[in-house]
Amino acid sequence: MKEIFIGNYGLAQVGQTLTATGWVANIRHHGKLAFIELRDREGLLQVFVSGEIADFTKLEELKKEDVLAVTGQVVQREERFVNKAIKSGQVELRAEKIEVIASSKPLPFELDQHAHTGEDLRQRYRYLDLRREQMTNNLKLRHQVTSAIRDYLNQLDFLEVETPYLTKSTPEGARDFLVPSRVFKNQFYALPQSPQMLKQLLMGAGLERYYQIVRCFRDEDLRGDRQPEFTQVDLELSFASEEEIRALVEAMLKAVVQKTRGLELPQAFPTISYEEAMSRFGSDKPDTRFGLELKSLTDLCRDNDSLLIKKALDSQEELMGICVPDAAAAFSKKQLSHFYQEVKEFGCSRLVSLQLENGQLSGDLASALEAESEAVIERFEARDGDLILLVMAKKRRAQEALGHLRIEVAKALELIDPSLLHFLWVVDWPLLEWNEDQNRYQAMHHPFTQGIFEDGQEPGENPGQLGSRAYDIVLNGYEIGGGSLRIHDRKAQEAMFELLGMSREDYERDFGFFLEALDYGFPPHGGLALGLDRLVMILAGEENIRQVIAFPKNGTGFDPMLESPSLVDPRQVKELHLELKN
Ligand code: AMO
Repeated sequence: MKEIFIGNYGLAQVGQTLTATGWVANIRHHGKLAFIELRDREGLLQVFVSGEIADFTKLEELKKEDVLAVTGQVVQREERFVNKAIKSGQVELRAEKIEVIASSKPLPFELDQHAHTGEDLRQRYRYLDLRREQMTNNLKLRHQVTSAIRDYLNQLDFLEVETPYLTKSTPEGARDFLVPSRVFKNQFYALPQSPQMLKQLLMGAGLERYYQIVRCFRDEDLRGDRQPEFTQVDLELSFASEEEIRALVEAMLKAVVQKTRGLELPQAFPTISYEEAMSRFGSDKPDTRFGLELKSLTDLCRDNDSLLIKKALDSQEELMGICVPDAAAAFSKKQLSHFYQEVKEFGCSRLVSLQLENGQLSGDLASALEAESEAVIERFEARDGDLILLVMAKKRRAQEALGHLRIEVAKALELIDPSLLHFLWVVDWPLLEWNEDQNRYQAMHHPFTQGIFEDGQEPGENPGQLGSRAYDIVLNGYEIGGGSLRIHDRKAQEAMFELLGMSREDYERDFGFFLEALDYGFPPHGGLALGLDRLVMILAGEENIRQVIAFPKNGTGFDPMLESPSLVDPRQVKELHLELKN
């Protein structure tokens, strides 16, 4: 084992004779001398090879990515040769002996050409891609984040407890990954979507403070911030209030930022309600690093008699928009029509653009809005040169469309400062949301979240209006975590299952063991799970969680290196009592 990583060599090593081991990142031949850039985990070291040494001839055969052991003296570089771009730039190693420990074939892609290399090829040779500084740094950052989290929670007497990966399929949430049992014919384990019930049962077990950095599995459509297997920082506490849990998570995240970025975040994270997030930002995970807040014009247009606006308002649609400062001439027709296509996907049949020049609105709806124009300008606090983009649709659709547009516009105009970290709590979530396809309510978070009931209110009364004790933590427009206070009373839990359209028979079958546990002195409790991959992705300044996972799946859920999923030996299938159809 090396005592010092060669990337960390510095003045302290000057004068010592050391053996540096690492990979050849580059070789520069200069006739009777040569320079090798040798790389290890911590960075590059320049090796000076004089033509005088016996091993100089070995350089003829040397290739990039060969593994070397170079013995020699560490010397200080002359001031003019100091390389500030690398950590070891003040020194170099004067080679006396060079041993090629392992040679490398030419790589399938040049490491410094990764930007021009297809991601599948990079993933096929992930172990090579991980040799790149950026990728190594991402894994190091991930390690720092989990270490900071462990340190923080351990110091508060949390216990790290593992829960099984072979669990039971439950009907809520995403699709499960199933594992057929060989021993129990026709029966399946399910990989956990999260250890939700198990961590609650650990509260029932009296452990009081639990955490786990745990893999979760969900068979759902993939996106840049979604993998079929991902990691949660999962925690649960007994006898804690919602505010205490949030304060604890907030302090933990601040410790993470301090340890990884050296940045103190003195302010409390802002807290806004779900409804406010939707109406101001058109998203339940708002990116607050820039403005472009949504404004509704519906109230201003009640007496508007243009056919278009009247028809929209009569059918309970809303007129809403955003105002983009100094952007009256920022977008071509083509770009605006691209934005239109995007809002259309959210169910908006139109995107209206208006410009403000010399205090006058011009553009698509300017004449229809003539009577309200002053009020509109005031509502948006618009100034000459601004662009106003409006949509008409039912409230949520319009909000979501504008929430999407807001981000597209901000990206296009580079309004987002990537160095900022904007954390935010979103609270006051509805307990339930209506699932149109299944014609029933579903839990907005999960069925174990406590609802908020007025005194004497029956759970079945006005279920769509019920609030909940759930909270999400958002960073730069990503949901990086969510949690809630949980139900710890059997009757309330049964009532919740009933609100979700389950019969007693259904919930006894699927959740009977859990309901029973609530009968044995179950403490009040709550918790939260952070999406570790997303948190690290943002701290790393990456845009895809694959970049911070050592061996991720590609966008279709395939692992190009392991070539998984794959066909298996028919005997294995038979052992599992399964039959494959072609
Ligand atoms: P939830 O489903 O909100 O809550 O998940 C918690 C956090 O996990 C991250 N996340 C994902 N990250 C990557 N890929 C995915 N497919 C993926 N799905 C979720 C998100 C999310 O905020 N048991 C509850 C937590 C609780 O109530 O304590 C749960 O799993 O960042």
